[in-house]
Amino acid sequence: MCGIVGYISNKEKLKLAKFMTMIKSLDYRGYDSWGVSHLSDKINLIKEIGKIENTDLPGESNLILGHTRWATHGGVTKENAHPHLSNDKNISLVHNGIIENYQELKSKLDGFNFSGQTDSEVLTNYIQSKLTEDTLSSFAQILPDLKGTYAIGFLKRGENKIYFARKDSPLVLGIGKDEKILSSDVTSFFDRTKTVIYLEDGDYGYIEGNSVKIFNSGEEVERKKSTITWDIDKARKGEFEHFMLKEISEQVDVINQVLIQDSKNISSIVNDLKTKNIFMVACGTSYNAALAAEYEFLKQGIMPKVIRAHEFRSYSKFVDKNSIVLAISQSGETIDLIDALKSIKNSGAEIVSIVNVQGSTLDRMSDKRIYMNVGPEICVLSTKSYTASVSILMLLAGCITDTYETSKANLTEIIRQIYYLTSENSRKYTKELSQLLRYTKHLFTIGRKRDYPTAMEAALKIKEVSYIHAEGFAGGQIKHGPIAMIENGTPCIVFVSNKNNSEILSNAQELKSRGAFIIGVSDKNHDVFDFWIKVIGPDKYSPILRTIPIQILAYYLAVLKGLDPDKPRNLAKSVTVK
Ligand code: F6R
Repeated sequence: MCGIVGYISNKEKLKLAKFMTMIKSLDYRGYDSWGVSHLSDKINLIKEIGKIENTDLPGESNLILGHTRWATHGGVTKENAHPHLSNDKNISLVHNGIIENYQELKSKLDGFNFSGQTDSEVLTNYIQSKLTEDTLSSFAQILPDLKGTYAIGFLKRGENKIYFARKDSPLVLGIGKDEKILSSDVTSFFDRTKTVIYLEDGDYGYIEGNSVKIFNSGEEVERKKSTITWDIDKARKGEFEHFMLKEISEQVDVINQVLIQDSKNISSIVNDLKTKNIFMVACGTSYNAALAAEYEFLKQGIMPKVIRAHEFRSYSKFVDKNSIVLAISQSGETIDLIDALKSIKNSGAEIVSIVNVQGSTLDRMSDKRIYMNVGPEICVLSTKSYTASVSILMLLAGCITDTYETSKANLTEIIRQIYYLTSENSRKYTKELSQLLRYTKHLFTIGRKRDYPTAMEAALKIKEVSYIHAEGFAGGQIKHGPIAMIENGTPCIVFVSNKNNSEILSNAQELKSRGAFIIGVSDKNHDVFDFWIKVIGPDKYSPILRTIPIQILAYYLAVLKGLDPDKPRNLAKSVTVK
């Protein structure tokens, strides 16, 4: 959460308006306030609450630091927005993460004034109180005093440098010829340079226009330079009004993108899946993707344990050298997942990640990885990365009994369906449904077997973007409690499989008898439906196919309600705090 950008050049000054677009590209990480500081003979500071609406900031500088915030400590106020200025006005600092012992640090800052409530403002002044003429060494000595997580960037009046440090929060360096960029994510700079250094935990140092110095545990270290392969157009909205709709539409390419794999890597992972105990760990939508694939593994005679990453620590003692842990994450930075994997560091288990962001913390922690290859996902909601995760997991599960080639060929069969589901005609039809549901307060989704995770994912999409209370249940679950919520007209989305569907249709009937408005998602229209969304395709791939119309429904519900689907309230794309 929170986006950091620091820019330094020893040649050209950068227009602040351009810098603002760099900060704005990170606002998926947090968008309740933003700020920019730049150095002339003094530190100039601009801060605002709310999203960045207008990037047109006048002026230019060759040393700029900016931040877009997702509030943890302290409310959404200008005072709590970053960058923070030290009491002596010599240091400007941005921070992502949580300094857990900030109260203890604050108690050591006698005589300092604080205008806000954040741990980051305390950190800024703590640094002021400890900094000597030798900025780097004194900064290194301060770092062990900090408990918690941090990505820090700061500039100091009189110095042409941006200092940084990283612990459990992402931080990367963009390496241009005469300019260097410090950032939470490559998205902010990959139109300026494609050369990147991913910092490691414990790294600290500084950037200048023409040099980079990185240290760890008191020693200078060399970090590998990598090249970003993402296509810049993927990070632009193009003809679409929102990234969400663009990314939903891009799902037509997902199958071909995820199939760009090294077959040797896949077969060595599949061999381990056949012989080891499988744990699947993830959060949110990535967790729903794992749940969906679980059914395919069960069908192949293998029982994986699927665990939400934030609950994983209670299970970690069961993970050993005979275990393979599939870690699924779009961002590769979700702290709950990283923390879960840290808990099994010495277990001897093999960590295999299914990850979109190359070079992310998860990528670097993994023994083996399978990239989603779907390019940047900018909308806070996961859509194309969900389809990618499910596809990869289904590919792996398929390879347990089939060859890689057959498993691949099976997946490609659904491309035509995805094309149809994301087409303008299908979207138009779903838009009509969104008009009907626009004033709904509560909505339920149900499915059985593979469609139980589909119901969970559908409910998650609807609630997070439209703020309609939506809950997903297994069809068999409703009579054990949830059916009490059904009133006349309560919308219920029912995912009906092509085969063996008598039980889910009975569940739909049970809901309808209590007054529910039944929206069926299935290959055929059934009498019990009040509204039908047609989805053809094998049941096996229903978690992908039947989810897509609901992603579209969620999108139109948000748009109809005048909400920004790309940035729902209170959420951030990359959840790097616990
Ligand atoms: C929902 C959503 C979140 C993420 C979750 C995990 O649309 O985006 O639930 O799925 O925060 O994120 P990653 O996959 O980056 O680990």
